[in-house]
Amino acid sequence: MNIVITGSTKGIGLGMAREFLQRGHDVVISSRRPDAVERVVAELKATAPARRVVGCACDVTDYGQVETLWDKTVESFGSVDIWINNAGRDATKVPFFMLPREEIPETVNTNMIGMMYCNHVAIPRMYKQGHGTIFNMEGFGSNGQIRVGAAVYGSTKYGLRYFTDCMALELKGTPVKMCYLSPGIVITDMLIPPPEQRGRGWEEAKKTLNLLADDVETVTPYLVEGILKVQKSGDAVRWLTPKRIRQRKLRYLFKKRDVFTPHGL
Ligand SMILES: NC(=O)c1ccc[n+]([C@@H]2O[C@H](COP(=O)([O-])OP(=O)(O)OC[C@H]3O[C@@H](n4cnc5c(N)ncnc54)[C@H](OP(=O)(O)O)[C@@H]3O)[C@@H](O)[C@H]2O)c1
Repeated sequence: MNIVITGSTKGIGLGMAREFLQRGHDVVISSRRPDAVERVVAELKATAPARRVVGCACDVTDYGQVETLWDKTVESFGSVDIWINNAGRDATKVPFFMLPREEIPETVNTNMIGMMYCNHVAIPRMYKQGHGTIFNMEGFGSNGQIRVGAAVYGSTKYGLRYFTDCMALELKGTPVKMCYLSPGIVITDMLIPPPEQRGRGWEEAKKTLNLLADDVETVTPYLVEGILKVQKSGDAVRWLTPKRIRQRKLRYLFKKRDVFTPHGL
């Protein structure tokens, strides 16, 4: 399969790229920074020499760059079988009125406009090539959950769920599948606040995260296996299901988890 992953120079996107390559698929790596794309492609080529790994810098908030990402993939691999809208950012976790103003458009543009641009570019082209599956990456708020400090990020992910529902409906009976991806809570740069923003609130948050969070290496094999098995539009690949949360809570009574110490946090 030929797979595009937006925002794949680190975190969950890079973890999924590694897993696809290990399973014998070909991957396009992308993010806004050409130097990061180049570095990651070189590293992946060294670890999976038999596979095709291509890099293409792409800021998903720039429609023309998203078109170039599609074109470069088709030029390199011939088609796009799976397109994963993974690129995303969080806003600083503070009450909304305290949020630096520029973080509002930065977050909405990446998580919402960028995600829509990617769908707008990929859908008609997949239709034309006769096949293709798109995954939109959910996050906190997608299921309507609310939390102080999550107003902007949560709104984008709530909206992303709505948008994906609409696309699954619109694409019914077409060769393009529209699917959901949800990684749970994963220890990445997005999840961990920079040292200057870690106060008592962070120590409190760590208690919950120790129960529910996981490493990229734990979650991404599950996500990738699920992505490769998807059969129809509207299918979802979700890691942290209510059942898994219940099992975690039960096990936690007997054995505490510490997901931070191995990361030096
Ligand atoms: N970590 C979690 O607990 C968690 C939970 C639920 C959902 N998610 C979702 O999973 C996705 C990946 O998150 P992550 O935790 O892996 O984050 P991460 O480690 O911060 O990685 C984000 C990636 O997106 C890229 N990116 C950011 N803005 C971009 C833009 N405008 N255009 C293209 N690429 C851009 C980043 O590279 P550059 O900055 O160099 O462009 C980076 O490669 C996000 O959609 C996030 O909302 C994460």
